[in-house]
Amino acid sequence: VEIFNLKVPDDYHVHLRQGPMLRFIVGELLKKGFWGRVLAMPNTDPPILTARDALNYRREIDGALAESSPRYGGPFKPLMTIQITEQTTPEMIREAHLAGVVGGKIYPRDVTTNSENGVVDYAKLYPVFAEAEKLGFIVLFHGEHPSREIEGLKKSAAFLNILWPIVRDFPGLRLTLEHISTRDEVEWVRLQKEGQVLATIPPHYATCVLDDVLGYNQPRGRRPHANISLICKPALKTRDDRAALQEAIFSGDKRFAYGSDLAPHLFPAKCEGACGVYNLEAGLPAVIDLAHNNEHLVVDHNRIDILNRFLSVNGALFYGQGFTRDKISFQRKSEEVPRKIAAFVPGSDWPEPHPDRLIVPWKNGEPTNWQFVGRKG
Ligand code: DOR
Ligand code: ZN
Repeated sequence: VEIFNLKVPDDYHVHLRQGPMLRFIVGELLKKGFWGRVLAMPNTDPPILTARDALNYRREIDGALAESSPRYGGPFKPLMTIQITEQTTPEMIREAHLAGVVGGKIYPRDVTTNSENGVVDYAKLYPVFAEAEKLGFIVLFHGEHPSREIEGLKKSAAFLNILWPIVRDFPGLRLTLEHISTRDEVEWVRLQKEGQVLATIPPHYATCVLDDVLGYNQPRGRRPHANISLICKPALKTRDDRAALQEAIFSGDKRFAYGSDLAPHLFPAKCEGACGVYNLEAGLPAVIDLAHNNEHLVVDHNRIDILNRFLSVNGALFYGQGFTRDKISFQRKSEEVPRKIAAFVPGSDWPEPHPDRLIVPWKNGEPTNWQFVGRKG
């Protein structure tokens, strides 16, 4: 068997949720043994808005870590964020910074999951940006334009019109552009200073396009149904956009890092159109495939070196985290992603599998080429 080793990846964009879902997700993350640092998104319900919220959330995550008995456990370190809204004050930024929160995430209002409290007028945040710039507190952007006048597929590129004046007026502000989905964003990021701007790229944006969501690219033998497992915001875009994201990953540019945007929703919510992709099974295998010659799956060592930087070095550099020496191994083996995954945790409010508590993972019922073997080091 062909074994493929990677440095233990960090994940700079994860939705851990709360309550039983959080306990389930943390257990799954540990079982997969994938992660070093995991940056936790604040768009929970209720949201994480203050230093105190973040500390309580951190406690909840630590509790879930403690109760899991991982087969492949490792140094899993949650990095905390708060959500920045139009009500956030510079004082709140100072307190969060003091509490060890690494950054504040800004959602455009009403664009995505739990964003009713999001921002419309970014000029209102100037005092907050000034404080963040002073402290080195990172500002994370969900880069979609909140205006209803701008169509969904154009919202990502249009958001750059909001970002340009912000980087002009706050040249010392360190910021991230989350889950980039377009060539325009890749080009924008390349124009920014290294160390100043980081963009995260999730595996589904790097490997899928809108046609996959709409059901035009179903594998042979599958009905041309839309694929609810891939519904997310920002929407997946075109083949050209995807090509730009792959070029960004394999250019070795430090400004691009892995952020899975793992975003679990239960099946009934997905059926109602909830956006968010469950990519814990298929995400890394899809990215590993990218490091191989696509046709013959021949390993290219230069691309693997660059892939390691994308997965575990670039983000650590930006967020001031140490480097890992630990490795995880995959073997080349076709493995089918489950059609549905039951979310349950013995002893929680979700004590056993239940038909209303299923997750539909990305690539459900389809094979991946790489099976997770374990973690060493
Ligand atoms: O698809 C998405 N899901 N995009 C987001 O911005 C939020 C996320 C979620 O929380 O489910
Ligand atoms: Zn997200």
